[in-house]
Amino acid sequence: MKNVIITGANSGLGFETAKKIAANKEYRIILACRNMGKAQAAKEDIIAATGNENVEVQIIDTSSFESVHNFAKNIIDSGIRIDVLINNAGISPMRGTGLTADGFDIVFETNYLGHFLLTQLLLPVMNADCRIINITSDMHNPPYGLTWPGVEKIAYGDVDTRSRYAYSKLCMIYFTHALVNHFEKTDKTFVANSFNPGFMADTNFSQGSGKAREQMVKLTAPDRYSTLAQSSIALAEVATSPALADVTDQYFDRSTNTIRSSALSYNQHNAIELWNDSLKFCHLL
Ligand SMILES: NC(=O)c1ccc[n+]([C@@H]2O[C@H](COP(=O)([O-])OP(=O)(O)OC[C@H]3O[C@@H](n4cnc5c(N)ncnc54)[C@H](OP(=O)(O)O)[C@@H]3O)[C@@H](O)[C@H]2O)c1
Repeated sequence: MKNVIITGANSGLGFETAKKIAANKEYRIILACRNMGKAQAAKEDIIAATGNENVEVQIIDTSSFESVHNFAKNIIDSGIRIDVLINNAGISPMRGTGLTADGFDIVFETNYLGHFLLTQLLLPVMNADCRIINITSDMHNPPYGLTWPGVEKIAYGDVDTRSRYAYSKLCMIYFTHALVNHFEKTDKTFVANSFNPGFMADTNFSQGSGKAREQMVKLTAPDRYSTLAQSSIALAEVATSPALADVTDQYFDRSTNTIRSSALSYNQHNAIELWNDSLKFCHLL
């Protein structure tokens, strides 16, 4: 039995990907969600659709260090080994403002820092061929451009509002690079990759922005467009396909194809700064 953890798995990309992976009964899926009611409903839907009874719920709120620690403790205490970790949970700045109880910008902690902490805590219980997939976005490279203001400004939300999401997703790509760099310096054989699902109008993510936004993206940025069906099939493949077992430090673009991410996302200095500051923020040093 292989064990897959997917954060934010009660809706959208996380849910559809969980369902696709669960179709293969070789996999146990842990739905890592913040809302028990929604997560239980998702679990029942996946079991009904796939006949795979090995679907479980564990509560996690990626915007809370305490919750991430509790989740990791439950996983570690259960004695399972992890084969796939998909760091998927995310919010848009339209749905989250202000600082978390830990003192960080809520978009930064929910989308990136909570996943950084979660991954660090779970490294000791990963199987040798574990795959870590960080969900990013092509908005890590927004049309209006992005420069690096330093980690502190991003972490505390001291950046313009529209860029908070872009920075959180840029951080996911830096995290992928830094993880692979870390594995190379240790005896770890895990792989880590970034995955861009593209613009999916059919998830809860941009709820409220409606058909008009979908049409606008289709017309003005067809190169950003995807569907939940297309991206979840691709993500399930990236998580499980034997052909992709050794691919590491890549950026998957809405498919099993890899492309270059933005030039800024390859800046090693920024990736190291983010890694070191994140260790400090999470009290892991
Ligand atoms: N949709 C797009 O166009 C698009 C484009 C590029 C990238 N993405 C990325 O794709 C990922 C999935 O998004 P989606 O489109 O599938 O949207 P979605 O349907 O809104 O799914 C997001 C999931 O994350 C969960 N979540 C949010 N905050 C959380 C927290 N603090 N702790 C735990 N779980 C939390 C949500 O739980 P609740 O149901 O409890 O809120 C939900 O299950 C996100 O990382 C997003 O940034 C989406």
